[in-house]
Amino acid sequence: MKNKILLIDDDVDFIEATSLLFEAHGYDVITAYNGQEGFAKVKTGSPDLILLDMMMNYKTEGAETAKAITSDAAVRNIPIIMITGARKELGFAVDLVPNEKDLPVKMILEKPVAPEQLLQIAAKFIEKTGKQHRHLVGDLDSLARKWKDKRGNLIMILHEIQNTYGYVPREVAFELSRIIDVPLTRIYEVITFYNYFKLQPPGKHLISVCMGTACYLKGTPQILEELKNILNVKEGETTKDGIFHLQIVRCLGCCGLAPVMMIDKKIFGKVKKSDVAGIISEYTKKEGVKDAINS
Ligand code: FES
Repeated sequence: MKNKILLIDDDVDFIEATSLLFEAHGYDVITAYNGQEGFAKVKTGSPDLILLDMMMNYKTEGAETAKAITSDAAVRNIPIIMITGARKELGFAVDLVPNEKDLPVKMILEKPVAPEQLLQIAAKFIEKTGKQHRHLVGDLDSLARKWKDKRGNLIMILHEIQNTYGYVPREVAFELSRIIDVPLTRIYEVITFYNYFKLQPPGKHLISVCMGTACYLKGTPQILEELKNILNVKEGETTKDGIFHLQIVRCLGCCGLAPVMMIDKKIFGKVKKSDVAGIISEYTKKEGVKDAINS
């Protein structure tokens, strides 16, 4: 199965040339000429990488499309690279720095981009994401056959996928939708409804922050904020280096030690916000990672 790249751009010449380039290097290419069409193709085509133009029908169309994609649980992990000629078109310098809130993309490239550079970057991002999911898809047919015609089969199949891989990879969910003929949106409704199902690979160390009443009143919201700042993740996410996964839990059964957080099976009680960086660095040192998790 080939890796797939979605090009979203209103520049017909760019789309044509870039499609030829990627197809000649063994990729499948799907195309869209505006943000709305692009978003629909992200949902139906399950690309491994998206190349997105910044300015299409209007200046912010690319940024709005990136925000729509990253707000959708079913597709938010697909890497987006923005490609723009905005500086030239606008005639003045624009801020070309990705940021999670206004421009949630992995990287911004300025047109024209050298073909070799584009190929190298695409290969790098696809290596990190889509490719690693391909081998998982092969197991699905037998799983689907095993649970065919049984009540609650979608949940049971998702359980098996979660147990096997520790999460439900996007590519697997997409294939499952096709094999058992259940809409992808329904599959993601189920995945996001139950805490048990994860959409990202689990981190090596699981950080659980207790938001039970006793801990909440004694300050775990501040501890959670500090962890989010240090690790640069939200709850339910894994750090880019795959070392930590951050989650919220309700009561760890040691309320007398509130506020409490736990890493793997080790409990940290009466934690202060100022303790958090030190606790995390104990683990990063062991992993040989410098204090650069949030970079
Ligand atoms: S409320 Fe946090 S351990 Fe019980």
